[in-house]
Amino acid sequence: MNRIGLDKKKAKKLAVELNDLLSNYQVFYMNVRSFHWNIKGAKFFELHLKFEELYNDLLLKVDELAERVLTLGETPTHCFTDYIKQSSIKEVKNVSDGTKCVASILDSFETLIKKQRALLDLSEAANDEGTNALMSDYIREQEKLVWMYTSFLG
Ligand SMILES: [Fe+2]
Repeated sequence: MNRIGLDKKKAKKLAVELNDLLSNYQVFYMNVRSFHWNIKGAKFFELHLKFEELYNDLLLKVDELAERVLTLGETPTHCFTDYIKQSSIKEVKNVSDGTKCVASILDSFETLIKKQRALLDLSEAANDEGTNALMSDYIREQEKLVWMYTSFLG
């Protein structure tokens, strides 16, 4: 058992998966930041703001994930070379079309939600309520965003 009463091996496995998730959040964060900067066209003011709202939220989650890894007794991945190697979400460059930005965001949410559902099961099996509650918050929030961004696309 570790200091918070979780099986050490299970906590380590959770930390590996949380670090994988963290890498995806870091790349996604940078993509959304670039959409905020590069967006052009009639929806500029609307999307420029929406993307800012989103990247701020992603940044909060980056910090929560890293600190959850530490709480589990492991080290969070902390450099971009590792993030890029690990992340299933790939870097997006030179996109300024609003529809393309939103489509890319929806693809990334799909990746995150899938990973978070897997972590929901894994944390339940490890009796890790802290990680489990975090994942269910993220899933619920992002499912709603998927509905909204999908509605934006029409
Ligand atoms: Fe800005």
